[in-house]
Amino acid sequence: MNTPRVLFQFDTDDQPSTFDGVVAVDAGVDHLFRHGSVTPENVASLVHGAMFTRGAKALRSTAIFIGGTDVLAGEQLLSKVTSTFFGPVRVSVMLDSNGSNTTAAAAVVTAAQHCSLMNCRALVLAGTGPVGRRVARLLGRHGCDVRIGSRSPQRAEQAAAEISVGLKDSSIHGVSTAGDDALQAAMAGCQILIACGAAGVTLIEQTTLDTAADLKLLIDLNAVPPAGLEGVEPTDKGRRDARERICYGALGVGSLKMKIHRRAIEHLFACNDAILDAEAIYALGETLLG
Ligand SMILES: NC(=O)c1ccc[n+]([C@@H]2O[C@H](COP(=O)([O-])OP(=O)(O)OC[C@H]3O[C@@H](n4cnc5c(N)ncnc54)[C@H](OP(=O)(O)O)[C@@H]3O)[C@@H](O)[C@H]2O)c1
Repeated sequence: MNTPRVLFQFDTDDQPSTFDGVVAVDAGVDHLFRHGSVTPENVASLVHGAMFTRGAKALRSTAIFIGGTDVLAGEQLLSKVTSTFFGPVRVSVMLDSNGSNTTAAAAVVTAAQHCSLMNCRALVLAGTGPVGRRVARLLGRHGCDVRIGSRSPQRAEQAAAEISVGLKDSSIHGVSTAGDDALQAAMAGCQILIACGAAGVTLIEQTTLDTAADLKLLIDLNAVPPAGLEGVEPTDKGRRDARERICYGALGVGSLKMKIHRRAIEHLFACNDAILDAEAIYALGETLLG
């Protein structure tokens, strides 16, 4: 008999995410143990329970998922969880606080389906948040020339500098997107535009968007009306607009995001030492393309 698959859901919020719980079950987890209000201070005993209960061969049937709305808190929890393991006594871990890693991976896998990232320039609009930072890093890691847009040039430059750490030969720069003139300058020469703005905020109006002659692909990750990119509908999934630009909305990217999330959960049980961060999750997303 196969050892049952056990997933520990460690959530930094008081209430563990029901969304993450459902995806875990749909990905074939046999037993889901959900914990809320998990912090670096209280997680060690939970990790010990996960790593000391099964023999070496069965450890791959236990895994940990870290979620919650606070992405920074999730990153800190991941760091504590991985430092609690020792030697081969460990289990696989996935981080997807606020869906940031799976969403960013889905957006960049989608972009790579339409453009050769190695030879492209992309503007990541409102790229200073958790999703935008991950999108920018994934694009930069795959050879894309990346501009991170922000209403604040200082925030843009700071995000670009932080994201570039550890990336060799990457080209990631911060640009201001405050006002139409700045937006037009930021879009000039870009083939890809990925909007990562806060929910329910229009970042760019259609008339301004239409001044960008080089854009070929528009992706808007905001699912909450009004659209982040005016004219791109949440349900767009490869639709060509009047200017022949390929459009994806949040729901259009969302189906791939869900597939990537399930694939990543399945992968947790392939070994006992996987650490699924944005880049590992992106690599799994690539394998979903036929
Ligand atoms: N489908 C999914 O499962 C899923 C999962 C995660 C996220 N998302 C969506 O992905 C998008 C990005 O998520 P996130 O968590 O990274 O977003 P976020 O942190 O809430 O916001 C991202 C950036 O938007 C800019 N912004 C905030 N308020 C603004 C305003 N009033 N006007 C203009 N710009 C504003 C800020 O950049 P500056 O201040 O630097 O300009 C901020 O850093 C959101 O729309 C979110 O709903 C979807």
